[in-house]
Amino acid sequence: MENNSSPSNKSLSPILLLVAAFAFCLILGGITLAKKYAPKALASKERHIVRSVASSPLKGRTARVDPELLKIGETTFNTLCVACHQPGGIGKVGFAPGIRNHDFLALASDDYLRNTIRAGRPGTAMVPWSALSEKELAGVIAYLRTGNEGYVSELSQDPEKKIAGAAGKGKITFETYCAACHGPNAEGYAAGGSGPGIGLAGFLSVASDDFIMQTVKHGRSGTAMLPFVGSKGLANLSESSVGDIIAYLRSLPGKPVVAEAKSTAPPDPKAGKMHFDANCMACHQPGGTGKAGFAPSIRNRDFLALADDDFILKTVKQGRLGTAMLPRPDLSDKVMADIIAYLRSVPAKTVVNVSVDQSKKFKGDSQQGHSKYTSYCLACHGDKGTGYVAGGAGPAIGLAGFLSVASDDYIYQTVKLGRIGTAMKPFIGSKGLANLNDQDVYDIISYLRSLN
Ligand code: HEC
Ligand code: HEC
Ligand code: HEC
Ligand code: HEC
Repeated sequence: MENNSSPSNKSLSPILLLVAAFAFCLILGGITLAKKYAPKALASKERHIVRSVASSPLKGRTARVDPELLKIGETTFNTLCVACHQPGGIGKVGFAPGIRNHDFLALASDDYLRNTIRAGRPGTAMVPWSALSEKELAGVIAYLRTGNEGYVSELSQDPEKKIAGAAGKGKITFETYCAACHGPNAEGYAAGGSGPGIGLAGFLSVASDDFIMQTVKHGRSGTAMLPFVGSKGLANLSESSVGDIIAYLRSLPGKPVVAEAKSTAPPDPKAGKMHFDANCMACHQPGGTGKAGFAPSIRNRDFLALADDDFILKTVKQGRLGTAMLPRPDLSDKVMADIIAYLRSVPAKTVVNVSVDQSKKFKGDSQQGHSKYTSYCLACHGDKGTGYVAGGAGPAIGLAGFLSVASDDYIYQTVKLGRIGTAMKPFIGSKGLANLNDQDVYDIISYLRSLN
């Protein structure tokens, strides 16, 4: 068994190298971006006077941070937040905002951050992180604020200030200047926007009038959100027309796209693509092609042949505990039906004619299965099937999230068929990678089921 496992371990190293190289590129990209924006922010001293931390609205909070707390925060960020907010928290246009941006942090109080992280933003990919411990939450906030050092923005806001305006006029101004990026009804990414959902309840419940005013006045340096007010602004808007926009945003129902009433309309793959891009693309990649070592391909012909709608629906609603696949119970049945229609709209060159018998149960020997798993599967699926977390190229097939939705036959057929275009090859029979027989696979399934 020991001898068998070493060659397959070797086959892992090129994959690990690739993953490492990719991570390195991401970090390098982050550093380049940070370098690109930092001097610009410092140069425009008229608007962003670099002040001492003590005189900033942060009141020296960033001056002395417990290094241990910071470490917890950094780890939390890099485990839970990085997939969407990107390395260094720089954000990604059309997907998630930058959250270590000094203009943003100057306006956002600790309470703003705390409430946003705890409650999430319903209807967006920002799910509530209610399970974070107090320490992790404090740590992650401290970590976000360290991105701010040296570039403290002079922006401040008065959370109590109420700004009056005319919603009707605001609607027209919004549609002229903001809708192109924030969506026609300010629903943000889910409506195909490049900016966040500033008309949704999650944002409006934490952002004060003045937070919005200051953001629109000064913009957010280094992002597509430019200053809009005054002669130097993008649109020479007056403060009173921003007041109108704020009144308009506050007049919106604030309901996320996903909370709509039961719909009888047939599933719409076009709408599904929009929801996919807003909620799933950061991990599953554009077009759902997946990324080895990170997230599986879910618009894959072979995957879709084996996974029925219920498999996909359950996976998304329950998530997969212990992996980056977070539960999304907030997505409505209509949104999920649209997403599934989009996934299934992939043009299949060759139809795969397999069906999965959900009720089939195979008998296997879990001990035999353990040694076969170690020889043939461990290199990619990790020790005890923990997948990506263990540095594997493939998903966590030994964890409860997967095993509770995947039937024995789903696993068997996947091993038999492989998954075209991915590292998951067919393993059964003389044409298979390992010439396994059916009983070998039954044993492996029995081993996987014995893990939880
Ligand atoms: C060219 C695209 C674009 C336009 C036009 C635009 N925005 Fe933005 N806006 C963005 C992006 C992108 C962000 C997120 C920036 C980041 O990564 O932090 C943003 C952020 C914001 C935020 C902060 C939201 C939050 O979650 O903290 C507010 C408020 C805002 N915009 C209001 C407006 C208003 C009002 C207008 C019209 C006057 C407008 N924007 C026009 C792209 C745009
Ligand atoms: C699956 C993707 C995803 C993950 C993971 C995620 N976020 Fe977010 N986050 C978003 C999106 C999308 C938004 C903007 C939603 C909107 O308002 O349209 C957001 C908004 C935010 C904001 C508000 C930013 C602003 O401009 O107002 C904060 C703060 C934040 N996230 C912190 C976190 C932290 C901390 C974590 C990790 C514990 C995390 N997020 C994990 C997607 C994600
Ligand atoms: C060379 C690497 C590699 C080896 C070896 C390998 N797999 Fe995989 N496996 C993958 C990858 C990568 C995926 C995800 C493919 C994708 O992107 O959709 C996968 C997917 C799967 C899935 C589907 C999981 C899901 O979430 O739907 C099952 C089941 C599976 N593998 C079982 C096995 C078994 C059993 C073995 C051993 C006989 C094995 N694999 C060996 C790389 C591998
Ligand atoms: C933050 C990253 C992330 C986001 C966002 C995300 N996923 Fe996933 N998803 C994953 C990972 C990682 C896995 C594999 C988990 C494992 O190891 O079992 C996965 C697994 C899946 C699977 C099972 C695939 C298989 O091979 O069995 C489906 C279906 C799926 N995701 C659908 C979605 C949909 C639909 C969305 C958007 C609503 C989404 N995911 C958003 C990371 C993500």
